[in-house]
Amino acid sequence: MDSLKITRTQHSKLKGVDFNNLGFGTTFSDHMLVCDYKHGQWGKAEILPFQSISLMPSAKIFHYGQSIFEGMKAYKDQDENTWLFRPEENFKRLNKSAKRLAIPELSKAVFFEGLKALLKLDNAWIPNAPGSSLYIRPIIFATGDGFHASPADAYRFLIATAPSGPYFSGQVKVLIEQTYSRSANGGVGFAKAGGNYAAQFYPTQLAIEKGYNQVIWTDDTTHEYIEEAGAMNIFIRINDTLITGPTSDRILDGVTRKSIIDIAKSEGIPVEVRKFKVSEVINASQKGSLKEMFGAGTAAVVSPISAYGFKGKDFELPVIENPYASLIKKRITSIQTNKSDDPFGWRFKV
Ligand code: COI
Repeated sequence: MDSLKITRTQHSKLKGVDFNNLGFGTTFSDHMLVCDYKHGQWGKAEILPFQSISLMPSAKIFHYGQSIFEGMKAYKDQDENTWLFRPEENFKRLNKSAKRLAIPELSKAVFFEGLKALLKLDNAWIPNAPGSSLYIRPIIFATGDGFHASPADAYRFLIATAPSGPYFSGQVKVLIEQTYSRSANGGVGFAKAGGNYAAQFYPTQLAIEKGYNQVIWTDDTTHEYIEEAGAMNIFIRINDTLITGPTSDRILDGVTRKSIIDIAKSEGIPVEVRKFKVSEVINASQKGSLKEMFGAGTAAVVSPISAYGFKGKDFELPVIENPYASLIKKRITSIQTNKSDDPFGWRFKV
């Protein structure tokens, strides 16, 4: 890729940031990467001060929701080295999402060279406190305009970053959803399409009104099979076995999900990747063999679930010693932050 044009901010916000009290995704770094697609090709990427963008009201993003994103994190180790975690997986998934939403695919050079340059420029924004990282949002959205319901002829690829603390504070209580669906066969559930998340908000609001934090999504046809936890993949532990559903066109191929499967196997934990029913979970709860339930994703890493509701009844998860959730979270974050060796070759030095 040709060298990137960089326009530095004249008004850095860095000094005003309290790195000891970071929320999640609420403070944004000084710069962003942008690259536009026009006349049938992606142009040159450039780095600009983080700023608002101007679009026509007729831009197709507003009307037809052609918009996709990725979630990644950059970490600093004790020696001030910067690391990414399996970024190739995010790049591949971005293009998978792009294809499904009829968005032109992006070159690897624009993604990686742009990201590396942005992280170099905003290096001081990468936190190194435990539990903190620089959350990275690569997005592509339709800037081309027109009311015709067809793919836009112009797009913007943009990377914004946000120094962030934990996504959730504390344990999460979830409601097993029986009415609404997150995704359907042949749909876009596997893609990181913005609309997938928008469609979760209303059912999640209803769950929050009932005293839960998140929804557990079940399959759209029967609502019998458990598929995802809010915006995360889901794992359950029955006795000593860790179980998660197989990826499909309804389930996101989560980077954290597949890393957890490999880590668990390397720890000698029996892992089953298979469909599992709500009834299996409830039976296990009643027999006392359901030991753990947790969500997994880039933002939250591993998010233990303390209780779940189903058809008006609440089921508590037991408090156990040495839960898999803690062990796995420790293993994955140690690899991410260069605190342990990396037998899988997942760390990527920036
Ligand atoms: C992530 O875990 O990074 C995601 O993209 C999910 C998001 C809605 C927080």
